[in-house]
Amino acid sequence: MSDQIFAFGLGIGTQNNEGNWLEVFYSAPSINVEQSTLDALLESTNYEGGNSTLVLEEGDLNRLHMSLLKAGNIEQAELASRLKASTQPVVLCVLATNEAPTNPAEAYLKLQLISHRLAQPHSVVLDGMFGLLINTAWTSEGPIDVRELADRQLSARMQGRTIEVFSVDKFPKMLNFVVPTGIRVGDGARIRLGAHLGEGTTVMHEGFVNFNAGTLGSSMVEGRISAGVVVGNGSDLGGGCSTMGTLSGGGNIVIGVGEKCLIGANAGIGIGLGDRCTVESGLYITAGSKVAVLDENNQVVSTVKARELSGQSDLLFRRNSETGAIECKTNKTAIALNEALHAHN
Ligand SMILES: CC(C)(COP(=O)(O)OP(=O)(O)OC[C@H]1O[C@@H](n2cnc3c(N)ncnc32)[C@H](O)[C@@H]1OP(=O)(O)O)[C@@H](O)C(=O)NCCC(=O)NCCS
Repeated sequence: MSDQIFAFGLGIGTQNNEGNWLEVFYSAPSINVEQSTLDALLESTNYEGGNSTLVLEEGDLNRLHMSLLKAGNIEQAELASRLKASTQPVVLCVLATNEAPTNPAEAYLKLQLISHRLAQPHSVVLDGMFGLLINTAWTSEGPIDVRELADRQLSARMQGRTIEVFSVDKFPKMLNFVVPTGIRVGDGARIRLGAHLGEGTTVMHEGFVNFNAGTLGSSMVEGRISAGVVVGNGSDLGGGCSTMGTLSGGGNIVIGVGEKCLIGANAGIGIGLGDRCTVESGLYITAGSKVAVLDENNQVVSTVKARELSGQSDLLFRRNSETGAIECKTNKTAIALNEALHAHN
């Protein structure tokens, strides 16, 4: 057994009628778990090594509590003790290695590592996750397998209740799992579990953040952060702007936005931006767009495909309002986020 294991979590899970996991809520997932904690898991539960998902009964939780106390892991020991009172299945998910997930409990642990800011987007292996997750109705009576929803709706109605269905999706709202410190969010439905919101990030109502994507620091997000896109500290995504994802038809460039960038309202990027870049409102830069590179005197020095400028710093992109050509100049004025707006996160 190696000195450290990748991650583990004690959680509360929901199963469908076939006993498959729809979701697991891990209140305090752990990453880079120490040997002493691993020993506690091995000696007090049925965990035998590797990547494994177990359901714990009260006796397991009692033993785990004592072992974790002995190992000096007070936080997890207290959690184990508290979970003894759960009326819902208690799940222990251990990931010895950061391999592709093999069941929803593992996938949920990984998504929560990101949203708890224990792992940055792209640092956990999520290959094949879509196929594992079950399409779920997220309702006022909890998560329900969408195939079982109609039956549950009828049963509820027969007892005088209406099940409110908030969404039907493989991913739940991040905020129902964790609210990381120092953030503000206008509409929780716009942020999927697996998003990473940095300290100081505000996501306004039109903003959207997908899984395995997000901000690393302070940002104003009024546009869409697609799956896989990571935005650096101090960058501002203007109202309705778009960052192209790689999930469907967006090519294969994984888009990143550096620090102190401004993507104008209704603008969009299909290329990465370095630091201190600005994209004019309304301009969509696709990777193949021809861009006229201008000098100090606004003279064209060359014409390149936008992808050749991907990831470069200090660029200003605009569409010439007279000719319609996309132009790129040196960006002389990097934005500074409005301090007052971020002081109260
Ligand atoms: C692209 C942008 C940053 C340029 O702003 P700026 O750097 O302040 O530039 P200015 O408007 O002062 O213009 C500088 C010069 O470039 C010219 N210019 C600006 N945009 C131009 C365009 N699209 N085509 C041709 N010339 C243009 C101006 O006419 C001006 O010319 P001058 O030197 O002869 O007077 C700005 O127009 C923009 O789109 N900002 C995004 C704001 C935003 O969406 N925020 C998010 C809100 S939710």
